[in-house]
This record gives sequence, C-alpha cells and structure tokens, in this order.
Amino acid sequence: MNTRPIRFFHRGAVVEVAGLPPTTTVLQYLREHAACTGTKEGCAEGDCGACTVLQGELDADGRLQLKNVNACTQFLPTLDGRALLTVEDVGGPDALHPAQQAMVDCHGSQCGFCTPGFVMTLAACYEQHQGAGTRPTRQQLADALAGNLCRCTGYRPILDAGQRMFDAPARCLDRLPIAAALHALAADPPLAYAHAGTRFHAPQSVAALALLREAHPQATLLAGSTDVGLWVNKQFRDLGDLIYTGRVAALREIRREGDALWIGAAATLEDGWAALVAAVPRLRELWLRFASPPVRHAGTLGGNVANGSPIGDGPPALIALGADVLLRRGARLRRLKLQDFYLDYMKKDLQPGEFVEALHVPLPAADWRFSAHKIAKRHDSDISAVCAVLALRLEDGRDGARVREARFAFGGMAATPKRAAAAEAAVVGRPWREATARAAAAALPQDFQPLTDMRASSAYRMQVAQNLFTKLWLETGGGPGTAPVGIWPSLQEAGA
Ligand code: FAD
Ligand code: FES
Ligand code: FES
Repeated sequence: MNTRPIRFFHRGAVVEVAGLPPTTTVLQYLREHAACTGTKEGCAEGDCGACTVLQGELDADGRLQLKNVNACTQFLPTLDGRALLTVEDVGGPDALHPAQQAMVDCHGSQCGFCTPGFVMTLAACYEQHQGAGTRPTRQQLADALAGNLCRCTGYRPILDAGQRMFDAPARCLDRLPIAAALHALAADPPLAYAHAGTRFHAPQSVAALALLREAHPQATLLAGSTDVGLWVNKQFRDLGDLIYTGRVAALREIRREGDALWIGAAATLEDGWAALVAAVPRLRELWLRFASPPVRHAGTLGGNVANGSPIGDGPPALIALGADVLLRRGARLRRLKLQDFYLDYMKKDLQPGEFVEALHVPLPAADWRFSAHKIAKRHDSDISAVCAVLALRLEDGRDGARVREARFAFGGMAATPKRAAAAEAAVVGRPWREATARAAAAALPQDFQPLTDMRASSAYRMQVAQNLFTKLWLETGGGPGTAPVGIWPSLQEAGA
C-alpha cells in the first residue's frame, strides 16, 4: 500500500507532515514542531483542558463544523483531511477574539496557564451560538466549560466573560478559507502513513476497514483516542500498527431503523448521547456528566462499549435500553445482546479480526420509566464509582401500577457492566410500591460483591447502589403517568 504524508489545514495553509511517529500527539506537534506554544500541557490525559484546540471538518452536507477537543489525547495522523485552530488563530494583540477581550474585561485570568484552553472552549461556544443566533444560559456555559480547570482565578469571572463576549459586535472566525481547503483535501486518497516500520491506516469505507482489520488482527483499533491516547501518554505503551475508524463516514452515522436507533461505532459520544437523550430524557444528566465536551467531541460510544471498562458510563445506559452490539469480521456480521458481550474484567466476546460496527438500541415504549445516576467524587468530569441505569416497565393493575419488566444495569459494581438479575426478579410481577423498591435493594447483595478501591469502598458502593432504588421509587412511584422528580437543576431546566 502506498503511504503518504499527513495533510491538514493549519495557520492558513495546508501543511504536510512526515517523519514523526504516528502516536505523536497534536499537542506535541504544536509545541515541539510547529512553534505554536500558546497551547499548554497540564495533565496530558484529557482532564484539565489547558491543551484545548478547535478541530474543523466538513459534515455530511459539506458544511464546516468546529469542535473543541483536547490536543493531548489526539494523535497527529487523525488530523489528516481536517483543520486545526489554536489560540494563535482566533485573535491577535490588535484584534482580540470576543472571548479573549471578555476574559480581559472580566479579569478571567491570573497566572494564565489555563487561559488559552478557556479561550478556545469559549470560542467554540461563541461560534456555535452566533451561528445559531442564540445565547447560552449561565448553566449552559458552565456545562460547556466542564472540561477546563482553573486553579487560581475562580470560575465566576470566567463565566462572566462567557456571557460578556456576546455583548461585543459579532466577530466569527472566517470559515471560507478553511472550508475551501477541506474540500480540496477531500480529494486525497485515504491516509496510509508509515514511520520507522509502524503504520497508521485511515480507511474510508466499512469494506476497507474490514479488510484491514482481518489482515492485521494485532493492530490497535483507534477511534476517538480518549482511552488509547492515555495508554501512550501515561503507560508509555507501544501500540504497533494503528487502524483508525474516524474517517469511515458510514460508521459515524446515527439513524432511525424502525423502532430502534442505529448508532455507528465511530459516532461521537456527543452525537450518540444526544440521540439517546432525545429518546430517553432521563439520561440527560449522565450525558452532561460523561467526561467533558472536548472528550465527548473526540471519543465515541463504540469506543466506550469496545473498551469494556467496568466503570464506563455508556454500557449501563445501553444495557438498560436492551441494546445489541453488531460485530463485523470481513463480510460476516454477528449480533449480540450488549450484556452478553462482556465476559470478564476487560474481556469481551470479540474475535481476532472482528470489530464493533454499530449499536442497535430499541426505543422504549411509553410505559418504560428510567432513572439514571452517576455516583462520583466530583459532579463534573469524573469517573464513576457507581453508575446505574434502572429501567422499569409499568402496567396498570387492579391494585395500582405493577412491574411488567425490569432492567437494572450497573457499572462499578462488578468486573464488567452487569444487570442485577436478583434485584430485577424481586420486582417483576409485583405491585410497584416502596416495599417493592426495598425488596430490590435487599436482593442486590446476591448480584454484586463490589470492590474497594480509591474511588469507593465496597460497603459504600453497595449502600449507595441500594439507595438508588429509593430514588427510583421517588421518581416513578405514582405509576406510569407520574411526573418524575428532578434531582439536578440542569435536569429540571430541561424539563425532563
Ligand atoms: P479509543 O480510545 O479510540 O478506543 C478505546 C478502546 O476501544 C480501544 O481498545 C480500541 O481498540 C477499541 N475500539 C474503538 N473502536 C472500536 C471498534 N469500532 N471496534 C472494536 N474496538 C474498538 N468514560 C466514561 O465511561 N465516563 C466518563 O465520564 C469518562 N470520562 C473521561 C474523562 C477523560 C478526561 C478521559 C480522557 C476519558 C474519559 N472516559 C470516560 C473514557 C473514554 O472517554 C471513553 O471510554 C470513550 O468512549 C472511549 O472512546 P474512544 O472513541 O476515545 O475510544
Ligand atoms: Fe490537560 Fe490536555 S493537557 S487536557
Ligand atoms: Fe491560573 Fe487559571 S489563571 S490556573
């Protein structure tokens, strides 16, 4: 296969890069090779937002989309065919971007280390809202900034700046040259990049991906790199050859198929969660608390499922919805219940040469009720100690609401994401009363013997998981027609 350099739009022109390892991060490229040191490194693991940049690409209709992502977790070849904008691109000393000017005016910066990252997130927010003719609420700004940490200024002036930037005369980024360059780059052949014997492939069709995967079952499959990037940055792992799914347009689709959603494995977390929340508004809080916008713009729901971490937040939601996972090897497709995909700690029913093609998520009928909870030490951008999505199908019985079906899916309670079979059995066929919720809680120790680790003790995990059945009762107790009780303001704001 013919190899070629990586080509992308940066600093007003198409640049070509060769001679760097494929796991060079975008941040390393910027700071060590492109002399663009405005973008900072704080944590190198997607947590602090100091490295936030904008990535541009054309959507299915050929329109330019700009999204903020973390440069520290993205490998440089994933930029091929895309645009990279940094704090150097959004304004200069004579003409600050409205986000920069507002940060000055509102005293949004002290030591300044976090500031370029905040400016880039605010600029992304500005572009999105100016384009739509809207203004974000303060809560929406706080949600947008959930992936940016500041250790000295405090968030009030930064949120003030986020609101103030819309008061200045509108000054969006000039999209025309970026879009024109991306249209021209679209004519490039799919990227095959090589350096010192290591290859990076970016196929553009499912068939080409399937062929490559079968031919190179040992290669590392790469999607949004928000897990894999850390294997390199933090564990210094040698990944060998890489096969990137992010340029396969068909795998980034989300579509309705009858009474179900088909979510391609390379659809971003943000798009995937948006589709799930449109179907089940109760999942909204889990969406907003899943990592942060930059991580959700890069990471994928397929990667979350395929990674198979017992503390991933996607699998409990998908299992509670009764999702299937579609697996492909060459031309052969296999379909499994997602709950059966997980065999043991980080062990999945995935054969050599096979990959996740999509998730198939049945849309719940109106008599299903959901309760979703992420228990973590911080509200924003944290890993779950326990994640629970509890689904009940209620029907009207002679003595009030009765449980027809239940799917109680937990993360953080076992070596894999798992349903609580004993707790489900304790409620199915019974009237939906507080005593029934208590019976589910009492049965939970038959399902799980959770671990003690740095996030939570075994006893805490069990206690909090049992308590969630009380919340489920409070949220759904009046039967199928009851208005749910909101726990978080953002949920109430959405009217969920
Ligand atoms: P990648 O990192 O590219 O890949 C992950 C794994 O999946 C790899 O083993 C890869 O080979 C495999 N893979 C990818 N695509 C496929 C495919 N199509 N077929 C087969 N295998 C495939 N996770 C949570 O659940 N909740 C959180 O709140 C959360 N917060 C995070 C915060 C930060 C700061 C970071 C860095 C990560 C966080 N994560 C969280 C973890 C991560 O973002 C998710 O697991 C994400 O969904 C991974 O998707 P990805 O596309 O980045 O996968
Ligand atoms: Fe902290 Fe990238 S350096 S998110
Ligand atoms: Fe110092 Fe934010 S201004 S960390």
